[in-house]
Amino acid sequence: MRCRVTRALFGLVVLGCACESAPAASLDLKPAPVGVRVEAARCESAVLGFDPARAERGRVALLETGLTGPLVPMLAMQSLWAVWGTGMPADYWVAFRARYGFGLGEGVRAVNGNQATLDCLACHQGTVNGQSLVGLGNPRSDLTLLQEDLAQLATMAGFTPPGYARLRTGARGVNDAMGLGLELSLNYGTPPTPIRTELGFQDPPAWWGLKRKSRMFTDGSGDIRAHRSMMATLLAFGVTQAELEAREETFKDVREYLLSLSPPAWPFAAPAAEAVTRGRAVFEATCARCHGTSRCDANPSTLVALTEVGTDPVRASAYGPDEVAWVNLGWLARDYPETSTGAYVAPPLRGVWATAPYFHNGSVPTLAAVLESSTRPKVFELEAGADDYDAVAVGRKYASLAAAPSSPPRAERSHVYDTTRPGLSNAGHTFGDGLSAADRADLLEFLKQY
Ligand code: HEC
Ligand code: HEC
Repeated sequence: MRCRVTRALFGLVVLGCACESAPAASLDLKPAPVGVRVEAARCESAVLGFDPARAERGRVALLETGLTGPLVPMLAMQSLWAVWGTGMPADYWVAFRARYGFGLGEGVRAVNGNQATLDCLACHQGTVNGQSLVGLGNPRSDLTLLQEDLAQLATMAGFTPPGYARLRTGARGVNDAMGLGLELSLNYGTPPTPIRTELGFQDPPAWWGLKRKSRMFTDGSGDIRAHRSMMATLLAFGVTQAELEAREETFKDVREYLLSLSPPAWPFAAPAAEAVTRGRAVFEATCARCHGTSRCDANPSTLVALTEVGTDPVRASAYGPDEVAWVNLGWLARDYPETSTGAYVAPPLRGVWATAPYFHNGSVPTLAAVLESSTRPKVFELEAGADDYDAVAVGRKYASLAAAPSSPPRAERSHVYDTTRPGLSNAGHTFGDGLSAADRADLLEFLKQY
């Protein structure tokens, strides 16, 4: 088998293969199987441990040294104001951060003297109540806008922008990283069976949840032991396959670092102890069968079929058997092949108060609205100020809109979460609806300190 991993831009799983032993071809695009069993999380498993020395090396590699290669000249990254139509702002990087949701040292990094690169933190570092948290899915990130602006800048400067595939962004913080990876893989080989490359929109899960999972990715398609699947994104940032293979030990270190992360503590007024005790009982009775009990920190991930959870189906159903078979032909999946589940992982809920907006597609802005589905806004915009956290509804402050604006400039459109669009539905997961208002209130207090 001859397999190679490709270099690409902003992709997650990027690989290509030429294989003599291709799986039998089928001409139909098969829907992913539904009806995956719901298996209760078991208590006997402990949280995954980590090697402290490796974790420290991984931290340095990820946060200090950098893992990614040069992508564009730093001068281009510094000159984007020329396409903003605002003139040169007084504090360029503050304006950069406001526009794209990440900035210098937080997703953008200087490399090789005069070059710039993007790294994991553009999508995997976010801010809550003014505190920057490594590993939090970044609810403000809009890499699509950065791609578009860089292309426009190149055109203005008289260059033809490279014809790379574009990351699709459903709304700020919610993109099709998985789908882009699959799309890019097609540049380097032809799958035995046609594959889908639009996988809806995904809100990156918080890294601190990984040590309490057995399956990676929102649909549980990856094995938690798979450092190669974890690090596949590197390829999107200018690291060649040879460099990738040479740095496999670094990837193992980074995985240990990710497993060492812990959720942040609730930074506001502590919830009342009696409400927490009552809320814990509600949690054990209503939520623990899927999310793990609060007493045992179980880590086997519970996969819940689309038919039972009822959230937006695109992501889980589009990463079907043909897509997985293609990915499994490559180096990245050789040790731990991926699986098509047709389900979503019930994520561990430690620190969940920080991870709004909720669900795999970021379609619900607060925990209160997760627990009472009739109150979920259909079209909304997250607030973006330093004071954007809602400590009462537990999540991000938002404004409801009557409808998505039809043709504002791209930069403004991306603020809007339009849950009527395919891939962004806020339906399903109605497990809190049957609770009394008092039980829901107690559950919120419990989740604040969980
Ligand atoms: C363009 C945004 C983006 C970038 C950049 C990015 N990721 Fe992600 N990442 C995602 C999204 C979106 C998901 C969730 C995809 C899914 O499972 O549906 C994800 C999932 C993951 C997961 C699995 C989390 C879980 O709980 O299942 C890991 C681990 C991860 N990324 C690591 C990395 C690392 C390491 C880097 C840098 C080398 C990186 N990512 C760069 C968007 C990104
Ligand atoms: C039948 C299994 C099941 C039950 C019962 C259940 N959940 Fe979930 N939960 C899931 C699944 C699966 C997801 C992921 C759905 C998705 O992302 O599309 C999820 C997602 C969530 C999320 C979003 C997490 C995030 O980071 O985006 C929250 C919050 C949540 N559940 C809370 C609860 C609470 C509180 C209860 C009890 C009232 C509960 N769940 C009961 C299966 C369940």
